[in-house]
Amino acid sequence: METTDKTKSTITSFAADVKEGLTAKNKHLSSKYFYDDNGSRIFMQIMKMPEYYPTDCEFEILSQQSGDILDKLPYKGKFNIVEFGSGDGMKTKQLLGTFMDMGAHFIYMPIDISQEAIDALEKNIIEALPNITMQPKTGDYFEVLDELTKSSTPNLFLFLGGNIGNYPHDEATDLLKKFNAGMKKGDMLLMGMDLKKNPRVIQKAYDDPHGITKAFNMNLLSRINEELDADIKLDQFDFYSNYSPKNGQVNSFLISLKKQTVYSKVLDTAFYFERDELIWTELSKKYSFDEINMLAEEVGFSVAHNFMDCKHYFTDSLWVK
Ligand code: AVJ
Repeated sequence: METTDKTKSTITSFAADVKEGLTAKNKHLSSKYFYDDNGSRIFMQIMKMPEYYPTDCEFEILSQQSGDILDKLPYKGKFNIVEFGSGDGMKTKQLLGTFMDMGAHFIYMPIDISQEAIDALEKNIIEALPNITMQPKTGDYFEVLDELTKSSTPNLFLFLGGNIGNYPHDEATDLLKKFNAGMKKGDMLLMGMDLKKNPRVIQKAYDDPHGITKAFNMNLLSRINEELDADIKLDQFDFYSNYSPKNGQVNSFLISLKKQTVYSKVLDTAFYFERDELIWTELSKKYSFDEINMLAEEVGFSVAHNFMDCKHYFTDSLWVK
């Protein structure tokens, strides 16, 4: 998810999306824009908060159950481990290390759009696992997918961290169908998914008392100010996040605290806000096992196994094509 490179094309799509999102009837800004350098730093702070359970849960799963994960894989010989949006690799390192200790033969292929993120990851992984065979790729997920289908080596795809939860249903199925299309029969996907649980636990993780999640959201406004030369007064906006156990969704918003106009020089556009008008910034979906089974089936997989932490807060769900 980290987008540390400020290439022209990144800024251009950001500009276009901000213009579209802030002129829409229901204003919205995509959470994919949370992750600039500053946002990635704030996300690291989120991962360290005691309230934000997903990181610890997935770390527990991958450090204690990677042997069981390997046992579920049907591959006899060499296989690829293809990771989408690899981040800093802290959790993946647990899995890769165990796989190596158990004598698995694999090539690790992390994919990320950010060269900087890939370089940092490579350094990090090689330091911990000097004997690993690694072929990092920078670029679009789907260009890389194309290459993989041409080879006969079987693949294990990793999509960790619970990132799938940020995609509205139709976008999630689109993405997973594309993964599926890039896989051969018998290829597997290990995907991090946050589970439905006591709503208070979820609410606290996304509306933390330290204000770190608020800062994470407000960073979108700072980005608009800096990159699109806008004049948003940050103290005229607040943050609201709510988990609804009825639909399993955490939805996050910025709130305009008064009727106001903000102007971006880069876009040469003024944006109007009513008092209490919302900007929807993030969806983070929580799943039941029924929903996981239905989603897998809808996009051409079946669920082979769910690897859970001891509290059953989070699953790394192993799917087979
Ligand atoms: C990185 C997408 C897994 O949805 O839990 C954390 C991002 N947002 N706190 C999530 C996030 C607010 C996170 N993911």
